[in-house]
Parts: sequence; structure tokens; C-alpha cells
Amino acid sequence: MGICVSKKTKNLKLKPLDTRHRTLQNSTIKKNYTERIYKYYDFIRIIGSGKFGTVREAVRISKPERSVQEKRDNLPKFAVKSVHKASANHIGLELKRELLVLKDIDHPNLLNLLETYEDEGYMHFVTELCEGGSLAKKVSDKGHLNEDEVRIVMGQLLLAVKYLHSNEYVHRDLKPDNILFKNTEDLNSLKIVDFGLSKKIEKRGCLNSKVGTPHYMAPEVIAKKYGKKCDIWSLGITAFVILTGSHPFKGTFTKHIFNQVTNAKIDTEALTGLSSQAKDFISKMLVKKPSRRLSAEEALKHPWLCVSNIPSQPLTLNFQTQSGFVQTCKRVMMKISNSSKLEELRKACLDIDTECCGYIDTKCLKKYLEKNYTPEEAVNTLRYFKGKLQMKYSYFLLQTSGFEVFDMEDYKVVFKYFDFDNDGYISTEDIVSSLYKTDVLLCLEEKAQLEKDLEGLQDFSMNLEEFKEYLLSK
Ligand SMILES: Nc1ncnc2c1ncn2[C@@H]1O[C@H](COP(=O)(O)OP(=O)(O)O)[C@@H](O)[C@H]1O
Ligand SMILES: [Mg+2]
Repeated sequence: MGICVSKKTKNLKLKPLDTRHRTLQNSTIKKNYTERIYKYYDFIRIIGSGKFGTVREAVRISKPERSVQEKRDNLPKFAVKSVHKASANHIGLELKRELLVLKDIDHPNLLNLLETYEDEGYMHFVTELCEGGSLAKKVSDKGHLNEDEVRIVMGQLLLAVKYLHSNEYVHRDLKPDNILFKNTEDLNSLKIVDFGLSKKIEKRGCLNSKVGTPHYMAPEVIAKKYGKKCDIWSLGITAFVILTGSHPFKGTFTKHIFNQVTNAKIDTEALTGLSSQAKDFISKMLVKKPSRRLSAEEALKHPWLCVSNIPSQPLTLNFQTQSGFVQTCKRVMMKISNSSKLEELRKACLDIDTECCGYIDTKCLKKYLEKNYTPEEAVNTLRYFKGKLQMKYSYFLLQTSGFEVFDMEDYKVVFKYFDFDNDGYISTEDIVSSLYKTDVLLCLEEKAQLEKDLEGLQDFSMNLEEFKEYLLSK
């Protein structure tokens, strides 16, 4: 990736604030739904289509630069899901709900949202791009997956679903088409997508709308009285389908499928040849009575799956006290980085959260520190977090890791993300205009901190090397 020659001058010296700063303050640290996505993103190709819109691969590039092919090459790619609002509303799909869930979730195996745009017709979700295709595609290419492969897939799925359930969310549409892989040929990069039917459920609450995909719907969903366990059923069906290449309950018409799901036994003949533990695992996820069905946590402890639960390396804690601006850069980098080190750290958060709270809390952190560090280190670390801790995984990583978790490729990707006019230099203006969607990228405290910082921050312009040096020096 070459760095283009700049029309701007390199100037790391601080300049007095000019009118531009006032414009930035007035226009950017705000929710701005009237901003057009076409101003920021150029669409490359359609990668998926659903009932209410399309998913397209896109690059973030300013309009004048689009015609120059070399400028588009090597730009980081994103996925944009555009949903037609009127059609979605017509069948009761609540787009705002999908947005709320996507904004709230924070787990290595759940799709990462970056920005949102809304215009008269469509709601657009900009997310990370999953280049490895869907689980459905893998199964249709290969016929079926072997037990070792399915173990890797199911382990990640159950961790993600355990997280969703502990945060009181039900997905309600788990199936191989909604399970993607971030990287090609890497089964360990699984991401659950499509939160269009997801819903927050009250503790011990109960749902009653018959939604989902017929082949994957649990008997209690068909009976319109259900809770979180409906997701486990869908995962049981998914495991069956990917191991055997066939469905346990066959039928072409919805009515016939529903009848089978409610009344028939699973087609065990298709399971011939599988290990007895694999069969046991599937049958315990496909128990018709939800109260007797495994929970995500119990399923993770099933002996067939336990083999793959290798704990990650202990975290190297590197506490950082940085300005809001530097933290913001880091936050964005964490959102769009492909670094394998970062992916490992994300997974280490799951090792800390042994109680499956869905966040890092004092009790789990204390246990983890006592196991992996000296007593003195453990006490000092807990002191750093003062008081009772309840922190989202990504905020915990933001606090505890430095820029060394990123590799050169990440700096390039993030630099390109900020360098919207693609001139090889980024300025205060570029950075702030990249943060239009601050309600997605930043939490409230970060936003307040950034606003405060911007008041004191002066204009600058740096190339990739300088940007990297600047961040590493902080
Ligand atoms: N982030 C992504 N990266 C790559 N492909 C995606 C991404 N999100 C969705 N897709 C593709 O688009 C399809 C439809 O997206 P999805 O969110 O499931 O919408 P729908 O509600 O229409 O099913 C998916 O099955 C997948 O093939
Ligand atoms: Mg889908």
C-alpha cells in the first residue's frame, strides 16, 4: 500500500485554533442521520441479499477519489447491510431494535458494528467484513464437516450464545446462513450475524411471536410460548445439518415442517457413523421440552466439546492513561483491526469472565489475576480499577493494552480509514470527520473526553509513519 503524495504540508507543530475547529465542534460530535452513506462509502459488489435489502462490500473513500483505481486498491473493506425500512416495518421487523442490539453487543464471535446511516428509504449498517463466507456455503461446498471442524464451530457458537443469553438477548434466527467467517480458511474466526429478530427478554420472561426460519424453529416457538432455550434448539439443528449435510426434520411446506418438529423424532439414521458423544451432544440440544434441554453453559461442558476448550495465553496487562484523542484513535483501531494479537486478547476476556456475566467484573478479574500473576501484581491491578468493576470486554482491553497489540497492517488500515480524502496525510479534520457516528464508536464518557480534548487540540497533519510514531509515543 503506497502512501500518496500530499497536497497538505506536513505540520506537527501546533497552530492556533481556526474556524475549522468551530465547525468540527458544531457539526461532528453529534448524531447525524441526515448524512448520506454515498458521501462516505463506495460500493464494490453485492455479497448477500435478504428479503428487505442487500449486503454490499464497500470501501470508505471520498467521492472525488473514487475514479482513480489505484486509490481504491488496498483500501480496507467493510460490509454494508441496507434494509428497506418500509418493507421491514411492514412485517414487524424492528430495525431500531437490530441497531440497539448491535450497538450493545461486544463479543469476539458476534458481528462488530462500526457506523450507521439512515435516509428516507433505508437504514444502513456498516460492519466488519466477513471474507470467509457463510457456514451454509461451507456445507454446500463440502457436503458436510467432520467432527473436529464442527467442534470448533460449535464451541464458538455456544460461547457467543452464552454471552447473548447472559445479557438477556435471544437471537431467534440462528442457522448456517447467519454464521459467517471473518477470514477465509479459518474456522476460528466465526461471527454470528443478522440480529433482525433478536430481542431482549426479561429474566424468566417469555416471548410469543412465531418468528425464525421454519427448519430451525424450536417446538415451543411454534407453540408461541418460549424463552432463550429456543436458540439452543436452533444450534442443535445447525450441528445436525453441518455434521450430516441433511435436516433432522424434513419437509417442503412450512406446515409439514412444523408438524415434524412438534411431533416427530429426529432422523437418527443420518447420524450413523458419528461418535457416540457427538450423537449425545446433538440429542441433548434437541430435547423438545426446553426445561430439559441443555443451556449454552451446560452444552459447553459436554464432554464432546470440552476437548477444544484450550485456554488462551494470560493477558499481558499494560495499563494506559491516555488523552481522549489517543484513546479514541485506539478505540477505532480496536474496532477495525484485524490483528491476531487483538483477537487473542478478546478471547482472553472470555477466560476472565468465568461466571459468564457478559462483562468483566471484580470477582472474576480477582480470580484470574490470582491464578496468573503474583499476589502483588494482582493487588496493584485491582487497585487500578478502584471500586466495583463492571466493564465491557472491549473497554477492559482499551484500558489494559497498549498500541503494541497492533501490527503495521493495522496502522495502515486505520490510517486509511481516517484518510478519507486519500491524500496520504491525516489531519484533525480527517479524524474528527471519521467520527461522525460517535454514538457507535464511542461511549458517553469517551465522547465527553474527546470533546474536551478537541478544545485543546490544535491542527496537525501527519503521514502514516508519523501517525504511528505519534501513537506509540503516547
Ligand atoms: N458482515 C458481513 N460480511 C460478509 N457477508 C455478510 C455480512 N453480513 C451479511 N452478509 C451476507 O449477507 C447475507 C444476508 O445478511 P443478513 O444480515 O443475514 O440479512 P438478512 O436479514 O437479509 O438475512 C448473509 O447470509 C451473508 O451471506
Ligand atoms: Mg440472514
